[in-house]
Amino acid sequence: MQPLIPDYLSGVLRDCGGDRSGALADYIPELAHVEPERFGMALATVDGAVYCAGDSDIEFTAQSISKPFAYALALEDLGLDEVLAKIDVEPSGDPFNDLSLEAGTGRPLNPMINAGALATHALLERGGSVGARVDRVIAGLSAFAGRQLSVDETVYESELQTAYRNRALANMLRSLDNFEVEPLDVVRGYTRQCAVQVTTRDLAMMAATLANGGVQPATGEQVISRSVVRQVLSVMTTCGMYDSAGDWLSTVGIPAKSGVSGGLLGVLPGQSGIATFSPRLDKHGNSVRGVLAFQQCSDELGLHLMEVAPATRTVVRDQREITADGEVVEVFELHGTIQFAGAERLVRSLVEDAPKISHVVFDLTEVYAMNTVAGSMLRRSARILVSEGRRVTFVDPANIAAATPDGGPLRVVDTLEDVLAG
Ligand code: DON
Repeated sequence: MQPLIPDYLSGVLRDCGGDRSGALADYIPELAHVEPERFGMALATVDGAVYCAGDSDIEFTAQSISKPFAYALALEDLGLDEVLAKIDVEPSGDPFNDLSLEAGTGRPLNPMINAGALATHALLERGGSVGARVDRVIAGLSAFAGRQLSVDETVYESELQTAYRNRALANMLRSLDNFEVEPLDVVRGYTRQCAVQVTTRDLAMMAATLANGGVQPATGEQVISRSVVRQVLSVMTTCGMYDSAGDWLSTVGIPAKSGVSGGLLGVLPGQSGIATFSPRLDKHGNSVRGVLAFQQCSDELGLHLMEVAPATRTVVRDQREITADGEVVEVFELHGTIQFAGAERLVRSLVEDAPKISHVVFDLTEVYAMNTVAGSMLRRSARILVSEGRRVTFVDPANIAAATPDGGPLRVVDTLEDVLAG
């Protein structure tokens, strides 16, 4: 069969490639030398498939795309409270290099603007050397990408020589005791972090690691925990596209992060990571053709996260069967992924029908996943039914519900036939 997805991605590049508006970032002199026509795209799924089109294996520097990943590492190392004490999570609505700090606390408004990213970088290997912080961030970014990444020394030197604004920000942060180390060292380390070289394919894998709850799809490494992923995606959603975050969220609807070298990545939680590379930027510092490509994919592939999915029936049927010894059994067959709403539907039918039922069977054969809340609602319902003198059996061949509730004489069997056999 013709490969469907790469063909689709190539079509998106064709559709958006005609737009030559925007300009190369030139405040980092070296970035003004890149080939402006480069255009690449990659999509990586949470189970490790990667599809590429165009210039997807050309290396460029991650720049601000490193920020959510460095933030993730700081959260992983220090925990949410310590990080929040230094960096807030409010969208600033200001450009990425704005010289503003929160009144009163002196905290940067969020970790995606430069002020917040400098404060984040300073938190890594807290109190340690520039080298220790840089090693931590490069090892971390490499773990997300699933391969060893390195710094583009030319871009690093080029940015450092003109990093007057970031120096000003770091000095302001130091004067307000946001960190204790030498401000210029923080600028050096942060600039190296931004100069890490990646390809569009790497960015798609890094995004897919977030989409996969922190587990790198190819290496299987749990790079960060699920709770950290949630925090990072929330901040990407509200702040990742700077002063165009609201426009981006309403038109594209995908947590995302851009960089001034022209990279852009987006995360579809539970599904995939998408990345583009095209160096010309709009006035917000986001890649012009990258934004267009994301808009097109979001529309055509139905990727907007706020798109309300058609309601699915997770409790598919309640049926009565008579076992060999003449007992009436009510079977609640659950399907798909069970979350709060599915569990609520089940609990509602149990409350409505319970008086008539002496033996309740939860058939989880067709369940693929159940979140913690749904699992605990199911087990709690089972406990109540047992305390009321009813029998409860789980048909749970894959042990999805981690099924045996405390203290109940419950049965867990592998098939419905096992229940009906008595
Ligand atoms: O600190 C800077 O200005 C750059 N190293 C990164 C800025 C950036 O990528 C903004 N994103 N669009």
